Amino acid sequence: MPRPRVLSGIQPTGESFHLGNYLGALRQWIALQETHDAFYFIADLHALTIEHDPKLLSARTRASVAQLLAVGLDPDRATLFVQSHLPEHAELCWVMQCLTGFGEASRMVQFKDKSAKQGSDRVSVGLFSYPSLQAADILLYRPQYVPVGEDQRQHLELTRDLAQRFNSRFGTVFTPPEAYILKDAAKIYDLQEPGAKMSKSASSPAGIVELLDDPKASAKKIRSAVTDTGREIVYDPENKPGVSNLLVIYSALAGRTVGELEADYQGKGYGDLKKDLGEVLIEWVTPIREQVRSYLDDPAELDKILSRGAERAREVAAGTLATVYDHVGLLAPAR
Ligand code: AMP
Ligand code: TRP
Repeated sequence: MPRPRVLSGIQPTGESFHLGNYLGALRQWIALQETHDAFYFIADLHALTIEHDPKLLSARTRASVAQLLAVGLDPDRATLFVQSHLPEHAELCWVMQCLTGFGEASRMVQFKDKSAKQGSDRVSVGLFSYPSLQAADILLYRPQYVPVGEDQRQHLELTRDLAQRFNSRFGTVFTPPEAYILKDAAKIYDLQEPGAKMSKSASSPAGIVELLDDPKASAKKIRSAVTDTGREIVYDPENKPGVSNLLVIYSALAGRTVGELEADYQGKGYGDLKKDLGEVLIEWVTPIREQVRSYLDDPAELDKILSRGAERAREVAAGTLATVYDHVGLLAPAR
């Protein structure tokens, strides 16, 4: 039996991934590479949908790859590539755009939010067709599952609809993929505002722990995290969001259950918890940071990994695209 295939992508939008990205998404990617035929990519084409700085984009793409490798993505187990290295993504995107309804694209929440904020003349057609590109990303590889966060559910629904629409108009090519919503994935909250999710765009620097920050500075952020009234260290997200968030992070990084931690910290104070978690964080992140640096110091090695990934991805993507072109009636070029 071949392993079921999973595919996912992440945008290279920041200098560094943060704990929310790692605990909410990347950790699951790493786990899935053991049991699935996994395809993971950096969605650099999606990063063009908002205004960006070209020099930063290429540096961030490299840094994203280095971080994925440093946290345990194994290029011998999973296929790791950069979206723009495969022209098939943009090519299938065109077919998907021609299947996507104008109204349908207008109803995508992510687009609606951004265009409401920025005005329809400031947002690009690229942002409008972002979900059609995402559908192409996915359908090219015909995965069974697409591990994503809850916020991507609507884009996955559209992908399924487009797959079915394609099949009914042009003949069956796709099996609609299932969203693998990471329910048990930790949702990590802002250290300073434990009611809000840790986020690149919303968190203040003090509220967010980035993988590439100085580990000592990160430990300090943990020690300065907002905790709650009372003194007991128990997991109670409703009444003690700050402490609960720290327990979730601690549990994930130290590989211990929240229950074990609660027992350990009985009778101790918030200060003890924060100090210890700061140390756990330093221990966990220091080698990751060193690895990232050594990958970034060896761009030739990174390029080799990426070109191997692109080659493997192309074996699948080119086949799907040829089948799609044939089904929609595009004349094959003479050989
Ligand atoms: P973003 O860069 O915000 O689109 O996030 C990339 C991935 O990280 C997505 O799969 C998100 O679901 C996940 N993610 C981002 N922030 C958090 C968070 N605070 N807690 C858990 N997962 C997160
Ligand atoms: N839109 C996704 C996000 O912001 C990233 C992404 C692009 C993606 N293409 C994808 C995720 C294909 C899964 C599958 O998180």
